[in-house]
Amino acid sequence: MRQPLLFRLFLRFSLFLCKYTFMQNIIIAIDGHSSCGKSSTAKGAAAHLGYTYIDTGAMYRAVTFYFLEKHISLSNDKEVAQALDEINIEFRTDSKGKSHTYLNGKSVENEIRKLYIANKVSEVSALAAVRHEMVAQQRKMGKKKGIVMDGRDIGSVVFPEAELKIFMTADPLIRAQRRQAELMEKGDLMSFEDVLENLKKRDHIDSTRSESPLVQVADAQIIDTSYMTLDEQIDMVCIMADQVMAHKLDKN
Ligand code: DC
Repeated sequence: MRQPLLFRLFLRFSLFLCKYTFMQNIIIAIDGHSSCGKSSTAKGAAAHLGYTYIDTGAMYRAVTFYFLEKHISLSNDKEVAQALDEINIEFRTDSKGKSHTYLNGKSVENEIRKLYIANKVSEVSALAAVRHEMVAQQRKMGKKKGIVMDGRDIGSVVFPEAELKIFMTADPLIRAQRRQAELMEKGDLMSFEDVLENLKKRDHIDSTRSESPLVQVADAQIIDTSYMTLDEQIDMVCIMADQVMAHKLDKN
């Protein structure tokens, strides 16, 4: 039996809408070294595209904060597993649109950015049990697509099927300058040498650990931010995303 014209038109329009909406939802995976602007760029690109931004570094920092608070011994598998069971991490957006990291219902956004966390986080994030738990949570968060997720293993482990993979890097000296300025803003006064040392140490641990080390996957597009402004970085990611989406629409 033939359906009324209005119903058929409605159905067609709904299908078109579904298809269009679906096509627009891609996963953007941004990996790279510490302090090269990944988070700010990912945040800006997500806002521009109307996507959700997920800061996976904040998740590892929140775990580190919890482990330090509870004096968890990193070499005690049982303690680590139990602590991971007790941890619930969420991101909540405030009235100004800023995302905050919550650990078991309490904001830890400021605390997790401090240097004592930065000094310990690479060690904690190198633990297999920690990574397995975080990766499982990150996959859940990205199920519906329409996300920009930044970290170290997003394109390689968390979402190897991501439609757009970006690897960001920058000169270590410039990264250390940026980090020092960031820390200073938060009241952490550190010498340039100490900040540079911390960055180099983290780069080394992040890239040489046996569990999902930081790697530049073959299908990632590289952005060197050494001499780029934040706006330029965001524009570049959005242009790349537009290209991927246009290509997907073309194919359909
Ligand atoms: O991006 P960030 O500096 O906030 O990350 C903090 C630490 O967490 C960093 O030293 C490496 C680790 N990390 C990781 O191992 N895997 C991720 N996906 C994100 C961060």
